Order: sequence, then structure tokens, then C-alpha cells
Amino acid sequence: MFTKKTLLQADATGKTVLVRAEFDVPINEFGVITDDYRIRKTLPTIEHLRGLGAKVVLISHLGRPKGAHDAHLSLAPVAQRLSDLLHHKVVFVDDCIGEKRDAAVRSLQPGDVLLLENVRYYKEEEQNDAEFAKKLSKNCDLFVQDGFGVVHRPHASIIGIPAVLPSCAGFLLTSEVTTITDALEAPKRPLAVVIGGAKISDKIAVLKKVVEIADYVAVVGAMANTFLLAEGVAVGASLVEKNALHVAKEILTIAYAKMQQQRFTFYLPQDVVVAKGTDNTLATRVVDISHHTWADITSYPKKPNKASYTVADDELILDIGPMSASVIKGAISQASTVIWNGTAGVTEVVGLHGAAAPFSHGTRIITEALIGDKAGNKNVPFTMFGGGDTVGYVESISGLREQLGHVSTGGGASLDLLSGKQLPGVTALQDAT
Ligand code: 3PG
Repeated sequence: MFTKKTLLQADATGKTVLVRAEFDVPINEFGVITDDYRIRKTLPTIEHLRGLGAKVVLISHLGRPKGAHDAHLSLAPVAQRLSDLLHHKVVFVDDCIGEKRDAAVRSLQPGDVLLLENVRYYKEEEQNDAEFAKKLSKNCDLFVQDGFGVVHRPHASIIGIPAVLPSCAGFLLTSEVTTITDALEAPKRPLAVVIGGAKISDKIAVLKKVVEIADYVAVVGAMANTFLLAEGVAVGASLVEKNALHVAKEILTIAYAKMQQQRFTFYLPQDVVVAKGTDNTLATRVVDISHHTWADITSYPKKPNKASYTVADDELILDIGPMSASVIKGAISQASTVIWNGTAGVTEVVGLHGAAAPFSHGTRIITEALIGDKAGNKNVPFTMFGGGDTVGYVESISGLREQLGHVSTGGGASLDLLSGKQLPGVTALQDAT
């Protein structure tokens, strides 16, 4: 249950409302925003406030500026995109504190929207400086936190401002926290979790949590390599985290103990796609790690060739194989709730001449399972997506996001929430009365 005051419970009519948004969006070298998902997800809060005749002052960070004014990390393109989306001119001021900002706030009319420059241009932001928080809050009556993607950071615009102004959660923050918390605390079962990405060390707490609560956990992506190595499987030149091997072993022990006690599956890839590099012109092949179960049968009575079930020393695992993808797809087809964080392979590598990307097949097959399969699987589980690479993949396929459940705007914040941690930016808000 969401215990904080929400925007619907706050009195914002005619007020000057300071909104902390998450406008940390990708902007290319020409200053063009290449993905405005986070901006669009903030529109309901802004529109609601405008509808109440509030004067809306938006603040956000963008990237991690080096030095005071890193021009590449200006929020000016966001003001333009917001104007287009709102069909209303959004005023932009190139400072988030000081006289220019104060004058712009004073001149706002009901329904107006002002966007201030990157709060991380000031080192005081990350230091959670109390004076800086006061300057950000000047002449504002209410603080609305809607930047879900950043509420795991204990910064001035996140936890400093709620100490100065009455506060509440915006629509996006409320929806993100409620959806993710419900999927964890009271999921419709079976609950399947697919977890991937590069490093185990980034997701230790999440892995432990999902092994504890889920009915099915599949580990994919580069992090599966470390698990495979921990199981004694040769992974060649694949990305592995040697210093996380003990963590992988610990998680495997917990998972296998749970499998003995109850209906639970912890699944590691049984076949993998390998190549000698990520260049899309290099030859790829599928290595059947589980030769003892499958290849033995198909080639019976002959033993399979060792190369068919062994990743060579100079090969890298870059995707899960078709058999593993099908097994995961099968598990998803039985699930009522799916949490997915991290792709199954190196989805950033594009295909040659428009062909399907060579290391995206596993991710694609899992995605197909989630939107209901035209071949007859009518089960469409509620899905919770998170993680930059997973969301990036979903984004790259036109129309896909609209067919999926909850695609989170948060990276680190959704991981923290998934692992059961408190989010400082939520804790700092006023409680619902
Ligand atoms: C994100 O993109 O995950 C958030 O904006 C947080 O950014 P940070 O990791 O630079 O704090």
C-alpha cells in the first residue's frame, strides 16, 4: 500500500507548485532527444496541476555534469519537447536558483509551466545542501515528487526540499511504487522473474529477493556467465565477474535448497549463442551446454562432438540459445505475473542489411511470450519491466511498449524497490493523513 500523500490528496489549486521530475533522457550530439518516455510519463501530473490553475515550476537533473555548466547536459531541449507535448509554451530559465529564476517564478500566471536548468550544475545538489534546497524552493507553496527514476538518490532536490515545503507524490511516482510493490508483495501467481544484464554485483539484493519470493527465476544475459562458471561450465572469453563467483555460488545454494523444498525453478541457460566478438560480420554458432540431456539423445548412440557442447577459449557468450529461450517462453506462458529486468543478450548489436540482430533472438522470443503468442498461447501475464537495456530494447521495436504492462521509468530506483530497499525520496514525503 502506498502510504504517502498523493497529488489527489494535496491542495494545489492556484498554488505555485515545484515538481521534481525525471528528465534524464538520452540526447544525441545534435541536441535531439532520442527517447522522451520519461517526459511523456510526467505529463499527467503537469496537466493535472495546470487544470487546477497552478503555476508549475519543473526541476530535474540530466546526466552527471562535469563542472559547473556542461553545455551538453542542458535541459533546454526538454523545454522544447515539453512545449510540443503540452501544446503550451514552456518557459526555460538557464539557472535553477538565483535572481533570474526567482523573477521567472514570480511572473508565472495560472497554468504556466517553467522548466529550470539542470540541478546537478551545482555540487550542492548531490551534497544535499540545505541552503540550496531552500533556494530551489523559494516562492513555491507545494512540492510534488514525480521523478521516480531518481528517488533512490539522497540529494537536495529529492530529500532536501520536502524538509522545506509541504510535499506529496505525483501520479508517475505513485503508479511506479504501487505497481512494483504490489508485484512483489501480492503478485498473482505463478510469479516468473527473468533477470539479466551484465553484472551480478549490481543485482545481488534483487537476485536474493526474487529467489525468495518467485515461483520461477531465469537468469540470462552476461550475468548468467558467472553463474555457469560457478557451476563448472566453460565460458571461454565471455564476460564474467570473477569476484562475484562466491555470490553466484551462494545464490545457487539458496535456490537449489528451495527447489528441494517446494515447487520452484531456478533456470540457467542450457544453450548459448557464441562468436569471437560482437562484430555482426563474425560467424556465430549455438553451443549446447546441456549436451548430456539433449545432444546425447539426438545423436544416440554416438557421443556428440565436444565442440558442439563446449564454448571455446576464444569465444564469447552473447545470447541465450533457442532452446533456452523456448524453455523460458514456456515458463512465461504459465505465469500470471512476470518481472523482467535485463536483456538476454547483446541487443545493441544491429543486424546486417536490416536482418534480425544476431544476439537479440533470445530477448525477442521472451518478449513474444509476454505479448501473447499468435501461435496459440493466449496467456498474457501482467509484466513489470525495468532496467535501461530492457526498456531500450522494448523501445527499439515500434509499438511494442504499448502492448506490454508496466514499463518502468526507473533504472536504479526500480532495482532498489525490487530488492526491498527504502527509497529516500519517497520516505522524505509527507505521509497520507
Ligand atoms: C537514472 O537515469 O537512472 C537516474 O536519472 C539516476 O541517475 P544517476 O545514476 O546519475 O543518479
